[in-house]
Amino acid sequence: MSARPTTHRTAGQLALELPLELPGIALAPEWKAQQRLWGHSFHPMCSYLASFPAALAHAFIARYSRPGDVVLDPFSGRGTTPLQACAEGRIGVGNDLNPFAHLLTAAKVEPATRGAAATRLTSLRLTWNSEAADWLALAERVLAAPETTGVPVAGSGTHPSELVAGAETVPLEVALAFHPYTLGQLLFVRTTLRLAERTDRFLAAGITGILHGKSASYLSELMPNTFSMAPRYVRDFARRTEFASPKRDVFDGLAAKLDRLFRQIPPSVDGVALLGDARDVAPRAREALRRRGRPERARLVVTSPPYLRVVKYGYYNWLRTWFLGFDAREIDATLDDAHHREPYLAFLRDVLAGLRPVLTDDAVVVLVIGDVETDRGRRIQGGVGLAERAWEQAAEPEGYRLAGVALDDIAAVRKMTKLWGPEAGRATKTDRILVLGATEAGRRRALAGASLDVDWTWPPRALRAI
Ligand SMILES: C[S@@+](CC[C@H](N)C(=O)[O-])C[C@H]1O[C@@H](n2cnc3c(N)ncnc32)[C@H](O)[C@@H]1O
Repeated sequence: MSARPTTHRTAGQLALELPLELPGIALAPEWKAQQRLWGHSFHPMCSYLASFPAALAHAFIARYSRPGDVVLDPFSGRGTTPLQACAEGRIGVGNDLNPFAHLLTAAKVEPATRGAAATRLTSLRLTWNSEAADWLALAERVLAAPETTGVPVAGSGTHPSELVAGAETVPLEVALAFHPYTLGQLLFVRTTLRLAERTDRFLAAGITGILHGKSASYLSELMPNTFSMAPRYVRDFARRTEFASPKRDVFDGLAAKLDRLFRQIPPSVDGVALLGDARDVAPRAREALRRRGRPERARLVVTSPPYLRVVKYGYYNWLRTWFLGFDAREIDATLDDAHHREPYLAFLRDVLAGLRPVLTDDAVVVLVIGDVETDRGRRIQGGVGLAERAWEQAAEPEGYRLAGVALDDIAAVRKMTKLWGPEAGRATKTDRILVLGATEAGRRRALAGASLDVDWTWPPRALRAI
């Protein structure tokens, strides 16, 4: 199979019309035809801005890897690629610099068993039953004076009676979000769960997924589920509307969430979740794989690097980061989501250079690149044609070979406009998918695999070897 010119149209295949002369790749975009929740039941554990659908990851995992291969995502977000890889018998490796993304990825690729999750939930309920009065009294004090009442640090295991001066306080907008009873339970659970432990981490990740949303399964109805609104807006809104969150039981909510998550059996293969910068993922991934006795190099990378100046993962998740004990501002200060085009391309080039030592010679590297024309109404300079620039200025100079470009516009536009809502303006964008070979062997493998039939039955009848 050879690369097709960008304007070529084939029935049932992606119609490609690209502004630059990059070859298209004849990949049928079947991922668009799948159900919204296609894939493993762990995927919707918690919403995450700019995540791609599991079906998109599957389109490449099924074509370009075999069971037992390592599949890597250096910007794993909520863990879509590594989870889907593990669910298909591959070793999914996810890396992200955002501790919230790392937590979600880790919860999915090193999940709790259903039994361990249920046992831990029961033990939390029992401890709550004996300590509830103390935590509810603390919640009442917080609501009376949120910004001066000390509460235990997340994960510290401290009982309200052991609080010392100088303990952290609860931001007003957090206190406003919950019924006093729910706040008391959350203060208890937040203090008790240890994020370094597998089962606790899984429960904490499940709670982030039900923390806020507009139905009875969420712990606060103050905000939609997709992202947290600006804290100032929330305070004004709560004052104006005399908002009072309905009473919700954290343990009942979590039990129902666990039922949904365990609708399918967890993947039989554990993956790897790494916390760190994508530029130096290679040595960390190899070391982690070596320790687990796994192959040290990835045969496939499926990733979506940060967008240009659109998403603030800390700011738009402040209620979740509070629950987890992370600092939202610190997260936004660390991540590479605020670059202008040239520094962005230099960043991407460093990432691709850094990836080399963790790739097999015939590795296929799939980059889902979001074009961003406007960010909340303002035009972004250089936001269009980013995939083409990424090829010319980041991938080609690092010796990658281009198999072709695929387009994913409909899904992308729907995804972003839904997220920001009409009054926030539009982040208009088109995703382009750069399919690269690490070498010429990788490029040929990418081209040869493009036309393979993919089984979209889920859960799968059998793992497919291609
Ligand atoms: C477009 S999102 C990826 C979403 C992912 N595909 C999913 O389905 O959830 C980009 C990710 O890059 C992460 N990120 C930003 N700068 C980073 C860096 N220097 N190293 C690693 N991850 C980074 C962000 O935290 C974010 O999760």
